Amino acid sequence: MQSLKAEIITNERIGDKLYKLEFFSPYICRNAAPGQFINMRCCDPGQLDPLLRRPFSIYDTDKGFNVATILYIVRGKGTAFMARLERGDVIDLCGPLGKPLKVKADRILCISGGIGIAPLHFFAKSLASQEKKVYLLAGFKDPGYMQVEKDIRRLNLDYMIFCEEEMWANQGIVTDGLKDLKRFSAYQAYCCGPHEMLKDLQKKFSGSGIKAYALVEERMACGIGVCEGCIVKIKNRQGGFDYRKVCSDGPAFDLMELAFE
Ligand code: FES
Repeated sequence: MQSLKAEIITNERIGDKLYKLEFFSPYICRNAAPGQFINMRCCDPGQLDPLLRRPFSIYDTDKGFNVATILYIVRGKGTAFMARLERGDVIDLCGPLGKPLKVKADRILCISGGIGIAPLHFFAKSLASQEKKVYLLAGFKDPGYMQVEKDIRRLNLDYMIFCEEEMWANQGIVTDGLKDLKRFSAYQAYCCGPHEMLKDLQKKFSGSGIKAYALVEERMACGIGVCEGCIVKIKNRQGGFDYRKVCSDGPAFDLMELAFE
């Protein structure tokens, strides 16, 4: 992990409040692995508001051009600041952070909800390049994510997209793609999305024999395991709970062990 400055290549609005930001960073492109994230300062140099950096999963890296990409949704002051940034502006970030995903299985099922596509896009791309069999199920609330489908299509793998609001791709929610769970019995699953989706997936996979992991997204402060601001509750074998830090122990946890409040 390093503290870095990086020049913005593009910062494009691709959906309603959804943006794609590309920045030049040989260090991130060389060192980032799927599952990892950057922690970005979201105010002008010398300013302290907002004080905390914002974490963003790495969506893609292009090692040929040394360009890394993140997706973000404008939700508050920090991301509103980001949306105003332009080509040539310099961002201040730390990364790559978090544990890289390590996979032994040959068949991987990726399941994303909303912006949860960000880490899974990078992950699926890397798996496909290792010639693993990847099936991606992606669910979005509205057609604001249509641009993301173009990126998914380029990965050249099997996928299904669900959209809740309008007839774009399949109408429905992402778990509709698991009605015939048996077809994925030889797969290992990696899921990223809202807690409600992860809870549904816990029920779906329970007793299925399919090993499933959740990539957890939490609010963060330090991003390096110091502040304990990103704790998740994990069920332990004694019937109690342990606590883990998403930033340094995660982001991937056994889906069945996660305890949601
Ligand atoms: Fe500080 Fe995880 S963000 S411990």
